[in-house]
Order: sequence, then structure tokens, then C-alpha cells
Amino acid sequence: MPAGIVRAVAVAASIVSIPACAGAQEAKVAAAINIKADQVIGTINPDIYGHFTEHIGGVVYDGIWVGPDSKVPNINGIRKDLVDWMKRLDPSVIRWPGGCFADRYHWMDGIGPRDKRPKRYGRGTDVTEPNYFGTHEFIEFCRLCDAEPYFAANVGSGTVEEFQSWVEYCNAPAGRTTYAEMREANGSKEPFPVKFWGVGNENWGCGGNYTPEDYCVEYRKFVTWLPGYSPLHLIACGPNGNDVNWTKRFMRKWVDYSRVPLDGWSCHYYCGTTGHALEYTNDQWYEMLEKAYFMDTLVRDQWEALKEFDPNHHIKLVIDEWGAWHPAGTEFHPAHLFEQIGTLRDAQVAAITLDIFNKHCEKVEMANVAQLINNIHSLFHADGPKFVATPNFYVFEMYKVHQGAQSVKCEFDAPLAQFKVGSDNKTFPTLLGSASIKGKKLHISVVNTHVTDAIEATINLGSVKTKGGKITTLTAKDIHAANTFEKPNECVSVTSPLKASGSTAAITFAPASINVVELDVE
Ligand code: AHR
Repeated sequence: MPAGIVRAVAVAASIVSIPACAGAQEAKVAAAINIKADQVIGTINPDIYGHFTEHIGGVVYDGIWVGPDSKVPNINGIRKDLVDWMKRLDPSVIRWPGGCFADRYHWMDGIGPRDKRPKRYGRGTDVTEPNYFGTHEFIEFCRLCDAEPYFAANVGSGTVEEFQSWVEYCNAPAGRTTYAEMREANGSKEPFPVKFWGVGNENWGCGGNYTPEDYCVEYRKFVTWLPGYSPLHLIACGPNGNDVNWTKRFMRKWVDYSRVPLDGWSCHYYCGTTGHALEYTNDQWYEMLEKAYFMDTLVRDQWEALKEFDPNHHIKLVIDEWGAWHPAGTEFHPAHLFEQIGTLRDAQVAAITLDIFNKHCEKVEMANVAQLINNIHSLFHADGPKFVATPNFYVFEMYKVHQGAQSVKCEFDAPLAQFKVGSDNKTFPTLLGSASIKGKKLHISVVNTHVTDAIEATINLGSVKTKGGKITTLTAKDIHAANTFEKPNECVSVTSPLKASGSTAAITFAPASINVVELDVE
């Protein structure tokens, strides 16, 4: 057992043992999870479970788009495996076409007959962008996945007119304007329509290197006189990480401009790496999770910074790029820029992050993990005919039960894991998670971060009573486990029935595991 155990908790109901890392069940540590079902934080916006697809490396070409003539099974050029696996997630919203690519993308390049579309300098290593995948193809992908589109517009090298005409092209009713007629000529009589619009991307960097004040001037021009055919949800470029200064300076200027329409505040936070995508020590495991947990600070700080200028909190946080970002070297294909193999550790990063969003669901209205396929914190890898789901995929599949549910307060009373960064002694919670209620189901997601020790937790349900349910667990024999084309099932979720009755449930959470407990409640 590790040092630092806070208390032993009396176990009131049957204990479920979850298959775990080798040798894990010998060491059991006690903890309590207290659910406050009557303390509702808010409704978890399904868009918190959103995705991001950029024209970069192997995301669009090879990942999503294989082309209608490909031998790879496809639906009008879109990889069929990807669509089939996406449907398992209820994916809610997908962001496109960037990323940094958005601020050099001209949407007119991507409409009309594919063989006539211009070829441009692409994003990757010596890449040509053929523009085969444009507005219509992306909308089809979203429809196949049953997700809403979220477009990122070009501020850095585009014009106000170009942005406004894109909105009109997507949203004008059939036959109403010349852009609507163009859309019809390109195969879509009815509007798409597109509600979510990001006005630029990382405009403090690749999106034009603006100061917050200068970007705010641009933002004002871009969002004034937008075609009002259908409701728009406008998202401005927020800070790099937790740069509160960017937020306050933009907002100060925004107030000067009589508060032009603004609904979402985009924040990007990549928690970086420790060690390597596949190689890390136990200490580096915890250090990585600690970096992921910084998202909690970011959400709190950015919300507080917005409050000064928007006291009623109309503007919500949109964390439209997040994930762990490891050094190059584990790409499945050399052309897949920023492709990295995701392990059980990355799945823990995902679970911890999604739990933070659930717990701050009144502040965070959308989040988009970077990126969907073949890039950074991916859910999938594809290379020609090969396709595999990463451990991250299973986290999103397990956690989808939280979408649209009421997030309720829950307290985790568990020991701290001890680790070292250099000569510094540090600690990190062994159990983290969130809870939500939908109808007669209570879902508690529980991450056991401890590398070697199972944690035996008593879940106290307060006034709520249960008759049992089930538990889904994602773990592996080795904390470095990853799924590859050759070995796709090294880290996949397993569901088992859970016996419990009354107002407590006792569950043993395997070391290095991610769990979603589903309890039928009265
Ligand atoms: O997701 C990869 C890149 O990271 C995006 O293009 C950019 O927005 C961010 O810096």
C-alpha cells in the first residue's frame, strides 16, 4: 500500500472485482465517493463530447476521405469504418477545417466539381491540398455521423466578405440568393444550415499574430451584418492556454464595441507530454495526469476573467482543442503530421479532462478533442485499408452516457499517489471523476490513477437508493498498452453486472483504470 492513506472506509455492500493490471488486486486501498444527487450543477451539454478535424497530415486525406474510387470501403468517398465507429459515440459536434489551416482556407476552393477545384499548398510535410474535401463533403460526413458542423472561418488571410458569403452559402433558404443557387447547383437545394462559427483560430499565433485589441477589431467587422437566415452561435478566439491577459484585453475592447454578438470563448490547452508517447516511468505517468488536471484551473480562471465583462455569463467556454501532445516518432505513416500512438495514459488524460468538463458544465458549452483521427490525441488511426480505435475512443464511448444528463456534485475522498518530478516530491489524487443523473440512471465515472494499487471505494448515494446496475472498465495489463493495426484489442472496455442495494455500493477499482458505474436509482 502506498503511504498517505487517509482512512479506511467500512464496506457496506458487495464488492465487485474488476480484471486488472497484473498483480494489482493484492494491494487494496480504501476510499469514499459521496454523491450529492440533490446538488445539481447543470445540464451537461452533449457538445462537450465534440471532435475536431483539420486539413493536416492524415486527418482528412487518408483519415476521413479516401475518395469514391478507393478500394477502401467508403460512402461517397468517406471512410465507412470511421462512420460506423463514430456512430457508437453519438458525436454531437465536429469542428472543421482547422486549426491553423482555417486561417489560410478559402471555402470557394472546396466547392463545385472535384476535378476542377484548385490545388493549394497544404499543411504537412510537402503537401498539396487538392480540395477534394470541402463544405459539401464535410456536411455529408457530419450527417453520416449525426453530428452538428462547427466551422472555423478564415480571419488571418480571408476577408469579411468571404466569411459572410460562406455563412450565406450554407444557410440561405433555397433560391433566395445567388449563393443559395450555387449551393443548389452543387447538389444541396436546402440549406445545411451551419449554426456554430468560429471567427478565426489561434489569432494570437498562426491566425495572424494579432494583439487581443487588433483581433477584437477584426472580430467586430466579421460578425457585424452577418446573414440572419438562421440562428448563429459565434465563437471568438480566446487565449493560448490559460492566458488571462489575452482574455481581459480582448474583453475590454469588446465592451467598447457595444458588445457585438459573441456566444463562445475558444480556449486551447494541450497538456504536452512527459517522456514519450509510448515510453514513460511511473513518475512521468502521474506528472502527465497532473498536467491534464490543469484544465480545471484554466476553466475556473477563464470563467472568472469573463465575469468582469459579462457578469450574467452569456459567453460560455468552448475548449475547441485539447489533448496530450507527444514528440514525433510513433507515426503509423510518415505523411501523418503529429500522429502519435495513444496509450492507456492518454485515455486517463481524456477521462480526467471530460470529468472536469462535466463538473464545470455550467461554464463549458463545447469541447473538441484534438484530433479525431491520425493526429495528436486521436480516437482512431487509419492507413489505407487499415483502421483501429485507440483507448481514447473507448473513453468517449463509455462517457457518452453523461451527454445531456444533469451533472451532480460528488466528492472523492481517496488517498494521494506520491511521485517525483526531478527532486520534488509531489502528490496526485488516486481517484477522480464526476457524476450525472438522467431519468432513473445514475452514472459515476471514476478514474483510478494509481499505477499499481486497486482502490476499494464505498459509494455513498445519500437519499438515493439503488438496486444495482453495471460497470464498464477500461484498463490493461501494462500502463503502456496501446491498440495497433496488428493488435487492436490491447486496451478495450469491458462491461460487467454490478450487485448493489440500498444507499451504498462498494466497488474495487482496478489500478490504472477508467470506469463508468451505472446504477439504477429510485
Ligand atoms: O491541432 C494541431 C494544431 O494545434 C492546430 O492546427 C492549431 O490550432 C494548434 O496549435
